[in-house]
Amino acid sequence: MYDYDRQYAAYLSSFEEALQKHCDALSDKSPTLKKAMVYSVTLGGKRIRPVLMLAAADMLGTPAEEVIPFAVALEFIHTYSLIHDDLPAMDNDDFRRGRPSNHKVFGEAQAILAGDALLNAAYDLCFAQCFKGEKYVRASKYLCEAAGENGMIAGQSADVLWANKTDFTEEELRFIYEYKTGKLIVAPLAIASILADDRGFLELEAFGRSLGRLFQLTDDILDVTGDFGQLGKTVGKDKDEGKLTCVRLYGLEKAQIEADLCADDCLLSLERLDADTAFLKDLVHFVRERKK
Ligand code: IPE
Ligand code: IPE
Ligand code: MG
Ligand code: MG
Ligand code: MG
Repeated sequence: MYDYDRQYAAYLSSFEEALQKHCDALSDKSPTLKKAMVYSVTLGGKRIRPVLMLAAADMLGTPAEEVIPFAVALEFIHTYSLIHDDLPAMDNDDFRRGRPSNHKVFGEAQAILAGDALLNAAYDLCFAQCFKGEKYVRASKYLCEAAGENGMIAGQSADVLWANKTDFTEEELRFIYEYKTGKLIVAPLAIASILADDRGFLELEAFGRSLGRLFQLTDDILDVTGDFGQLGKTVGKDKDEGKLTCVRLYGLEKAQIEADLCADDCLLSLERLDADTAFLKDLVHFVRERKK
């Protein structure tokens, strides 16, 4: 019988196995660089993006092997974004996934390079898939765009530029959410659909946009209400850095209401999918209620 935790653990374990193989296969031309890359990738993390990809593929009837290289590429890109996000020039965070941030262990220069190299390793994985045909090229291009200047990086740029801005608007907050977080949450769902010959593409994209927003609403809330031991990253950091967050814009109480409304949007958008959405529905509740 279906059980959410068991299902999550099953997706996680098939992903972790593949991830480990790809980490082992990374070049050790510079052993320090490889160590820095593997350090952050294998620290753990929820792996929600790869789990989303595997779950969507499963739901659409696509074999896991089809999406696994893209799931690994996506987690490489996500991890690189975290390494750079923690740098003194960005959020200046000393902890990540319960351990010292990459630059605290390897120094800023190696941390920057480890991030760069993870991004390249991700594209190497995508290129290897492109030989298989057109849909693999489209999936790769989708990931590339979601990560780049029309995706996550655009959001990170705004997040940093608008810190300490006094007259910020809801529209600006939505932009930051959609780009810095949303794009890499939509990507696994869209890629799973592309590899399933576009089944449910628009519906999954719409769901991903709401889920991305929910994910960052709860991330901002946890920066205020969370616990270091569970979160594995410093709390209260957004206020210190003057970040534009939902808590700053709405206040904590209204931010919680926004998150509830957004979770409802997620569930509603799943109704439009002609597939078994039980796991994705439970994942929405998991994201809304998460403590880490
Ligand atoms: C943190 O992402 C960065 C955001 C986009 C909020 P996660 O909360 O998914 O971090 P890990 O991968 O579990 O460490
Ligand atoms: C980061 O957002 C989003 C990324 C693209 C890495 P945050 O700066 O809020 O993420 P945390 O709180 O450091 O994980
Ligand atoms: Mg940040
Ligand atoms: Mg940060
Ligand atoms: Mg945060």
